[in-house]
Amino acid sequence: MTAPLLIRNATLPDGRTAIDLLALDGRIAEVGPALPVPPGAEVAEAGGHLLSPPLVDAHFHLDATLSLGLPRVNASGTLLEGIQLWGELKPLLTEEAIAERALQYCDWAVARGLLAIRSHVDVCDPRLLAVRALLAVQKRVAPYLDLQLVAFPQDGLLRSPGALAQLKQALDLGVDVVGGIPHFERTMQEGAESVRLLCELAAERGLRVDMHCDESDDPLSRHVETLAFHTQRLGLQGRVTGSHLTSMHSMDNYYVSKLLPLLAEAGVHAVANPLINITLQGRHDSYPRRRGMTRVPELLAAGVNVGFGHDCVMDPWYALGSADMLEVAAMGLHVAQMTSVQGQRQCFDAVTVNSARILGLQGYGLEPGCRADFVLLQAGSPAEAIRLRAQRLLVVRGGTVVSRMAPATAELNLPGRPARVDFTRQAAPAAPGRAS
Ligand code: FE2
Repeated sequence: MTAPLLIRNATLPDGRTAIDLLALDGRIAEVGPALPVPPGAEVAEAGGHLLSPPLVDAHFHLDATLSLGLPRVNASGTLLEGIQLWGELKPLLTEEAIAERALQYCDWAVARGLLAIRSHVDVCDPRLLAVRALLAVQKRVAPYLDLQLVAFPQDGLLRSPGALAQLKQALDLGVDVVGGIPHFERTMQEGAESVRLLCELAAERGLRVDMHCDESDDPLSRHVETLAFHTQRLGLQGRVTGSHLTSMHSMDNYYVSKLLPLLAEAGVHAVANPLINITLQGRHDSYPRRRGMTRVPELLAAGVNVGFGHDCVMDPWYALGSADMLEVAAMGLHVAQMTSVQGQRQCFDAVTVNSARILGLQGYGLEPGCRADFVLLQAGSPAEAIRLRAQRLLVVRGGTVVSRMAPATAELNLPGRPARVDFTRQAAPAAPGRAS
């Protein structure tokens, strides 16, 4: 049994300040001002910094991560060359190499306060190497990270021979969620058929669904409509996610005005992947060049739950990234122009509570009774956490500190100026001669 952990003097995402939080036996026991220190407790001084539930990534590819340069880099920067490149890499993969890279990424994730990841795993490989590797990784990291796996037919459920059988086999082996890629099937009809088959499979097995859906600049790619239809038909409300939905960026406004209420009605969650959408989409445009990200503020306003995903880090599709969901939130905020006070807060929610809902995480939050999982950020508010991509001073899982990071500060040597800056907003002193 671990010792009780008391966090002193934190600010919470809802704006409450000078709050203490007590973690006991892996759960949050109490939250409030000036809590007494239980005997034998470890006390961590938060110094007024922001205490948040852990960051959550609603969309990632752990089987491809950190493979950048193998066997070559993506020259065109397009989604389609990325898929082709991944196809070249697949025969060269080993279970050990996939697991090793995935574990390294999970270390980065924990250090960044990212304690839950939904990762797609490609099932279009008769050996199912990546599936076996990531199932082993899932088990290994379970004490410190919730890894949820999606059976993802990267080369098309109907287009790739054997994909349906392999997808079912992956589910039999323990993969948690049913994936799909309707816009990559041979025809619109086959895309719609794949959505039907996959939703029925999920309904039969009592599983969640998360499809790459309409990851295209083609305004006529409308598989999300079919996804909403089958979600409702099969009673899967709240358990289905449409990932990417980039075609919505280019759709006709009238059609979108019909589509958004359909998604809300069906309880379909949406995931945008801002870093990847802004770099992969619009590649066939000259100027003006489309941003390609789905309509995040409009989805939220329609009552659709929207999470953000990192999607890729150093792989055939994206050469950058470091498991930083605050970087993802910052990009989402810029691309969707969510600069209002409410918009900034919504972007923070998209990498925390909204994504937790998409994964169906149990006991997520900072209320008494929730799992004692949280992160202390070197920031005074959710908006400041995004602005600074704040340091994760302390990351706690089940009441145990699993990572510590030094605060970001600089020592200055300037005449008549402070000796140190940390980039957080300092209260401005009252103007001379005025009452404070
Ligand atoms: Fe993806």
